[in-house]
Amino acid sequence: MEFKGRDIISIKDFSREEINYVFKVAKSMEPLASRGSQMLKGKILATLFYEASTRTRLSFESAMQRLGGSTIGFAEAEIASVKKGENLADTVRTVENYADVIALRHPLEGAARLAAEFSRVPILNGGSGAEEHPTQALLDLYTMVKERGKVDGLKIALAGDLRYGRTVHSLAYALSLYDIELFLVSPETLRMRREVLQTIKERIPVTEKTSLEKIVSLVDVLYVTRIQKERFPDPAEYAKVKGSYRVDLQSLNDAKKDLIIMHPLPRVDEIAAEVDATPYARYFQQVGNGIVVRMALLALILGAVD
Ligand code: NCD
Repeated sequence: MEFKGRDIISIKDFSREEINYVFKVAKSMEPLASRGSQMLKGKILATLFYEASTRTRLSFESAMQRLGGSTIGFAEAEIASVKKGENLADTVRTVENYADVIALRHPLEGAARLAAEFSRVPILNGGSGAEEHPTQALLDLYTMVKERGKVDGLKIALAGDLRYGRTVHSLAYALSLYDIELFLVSPETLRMRREVLQTIKERIPVTEKTSLEKIVSLVDVLYVTRIQKERFPDPAEYAKVKGSYRVDLQSLNDAKKDLIIMHPLPRVDEIAAEVDATPYARYFQQVGNGIVVRMALLALILGAVD
């Protein structure tokens, strides 16, 4: 399987076999995540983050450093030359001289694809507007495999902002490669994007709902997302859907015993803090899994593992 030099732009570019392979390598990274390794010594990762981030950027940087590589970059586009009017293509053609791989987060859809067209070094899409977040989908799937043994056979609900949430777009595409049943739960105005729906409906059974109530007792995985306030063109529209879903202990009364609750984080108020101490909560495990999945991707793309 050829990963060396490859861009990671969309989860749609992955086959099920390739995903399995990334997971095999991620598993082999688990001991190295605590012990450390010099596998990527001398290699440099640049993180160019034009949008707010805690986990994705720090996770990429931590993954790189745990493999002995180093990191440069910016998290605040305001202080970079973007402020002077530099376009993405020029920034990428500059940074490729400083780094062996670039992780990019940008508010515009298509930004990662554009960057990859200009860059001589591989681009890792760390979020392209509301479009996609492929490495998050990989760590989400990895979490399901780890926690539930396998993805096939699961009943999975994606709840919250399915329109502007990029994590659920990538995750829905990825899940459609498996033999699962999918429930999409959102307010009417935040229904799953049509292009995603069309593609996944050709492959798996999909049910759309506006209420979580009847769904909670049916599913094995409940993946909750934040309403993406910053992407709403109209604040009045946000006010209407704000707080539409809240998962608390009471709402989980009829849940299956082995239900797992996931969330890409950050959460605002969609999962009550009282849920954190239940055996359902897996959102902080997801964060840990993000490290080994990104270690695997960096090692594969930079040719340290083949
Ligand atoms: C998400 C994102 O940035 O898309 N966070 C993440 O990368 N873990 C989800 C969000 O912002 O709600």
